[in-house]
Amino acid sequence: MSPLLHVKNVETYYGNIRALGGVDVMVEPGEIVCMIGANGAGKSTLMMTICGSPQARTGSVIFDGQDITRMPTHEIARLRIAQSPEGRRIFPRMTVYENLQMGASLDNLKYFNEDIEKIFTLFPRLKERQSQRGGTLSGGEQQMLSIGRALMARPKLLLLDEPSLGLAPLIVKGIFAAIKKLNEEEGLTVFLVEQNAFAALKLSHRGYVMVNGQVTMSGGGRELLANPEVRAAYLEGGHH
Ligand SMILES: Nc1ncnc2c1ncn2[C@@H]1O[C@H](COP(=O)(O)OP(=O)(O)OP(=O)(O)O)[C@@H](O)[C@H]1O
Ligand SMILES: [Mg+2]
Repeated sequence: MSPLLHVKNVETYYGNIRALGGVDVMVEPGEIVCMIGANGAGKSTLMMTICGSPQARTGSVIFDGQDITRMPTHEIARLRIAQSPEGRRIFPRMTVYENLQMGASLDNLKYFNEDIEKIFTLFPRLKERQSQRGGTLSGGEQQMLSIGRALMARPKLLLLDEPSLGLAPLIVKGIFAAIKKLNEEEGLTVFLVEQNAFAALKLSHRGYVMVNGQVTMSGGGRELLANPEVRAAYLEGGHH
């Protein structure tokens, strides 16, 4: 089986500042894989590099057998990589329903009603609030909306940038359970980056650890959860 996503020795710069220093990541079809790391480690930069903005200066990003390293962002999106970006970026003045509409791609309009019902089944809260403006939702509801909007694109790969950020543990549990369900029932492939190492590693089949733009460790989700170095750096005293 060839990987769905293969990030190979990628370096990404902001001007002269190197944010990613030779990152290798592989995600197989049907896997949930996470990258954990502290503030400023380069997690969002990695997500954005996969989406082509900023582009990798060296190395390559291969998706579904195709080299997408130099592809413009909108073309990458058409290959059905969808992301829920850092900060959720929902449209605050649009309703929940309109936000979901924005995520649908023109190629899939015939599935529109079916897809939106699926998202309402996954997140019943969004159905209840479908006529409400996005900006009036709670943080957890906005995260559900951001994921729902990404799912409207019928992604082959779902990218999530810190889905747990700022949310109460119980809300995080609910959202992560929904991601797990999508993965188990539909085989959706997910790559997420998180500071919340405990929740992310518990959800993921495999994980990577990023420090200062470089991968320092990788392994099974459970294996990393039990790893003393990971525990000391990311779990002990952290949010469980
Ligand atoms: N637009 C930018 N211009 C210059 N430097 C940037 C820019 N965006 C990020 N950086 C720097 O690149 C490094 C990686 O940042 P990045 O946002 O990828 O980290 P992160 O792991 O997502 O952090 P957080 O957990 O806070 O979201 C940091 O040193 C950051 O200051
Ligand atoms: Mg970030």
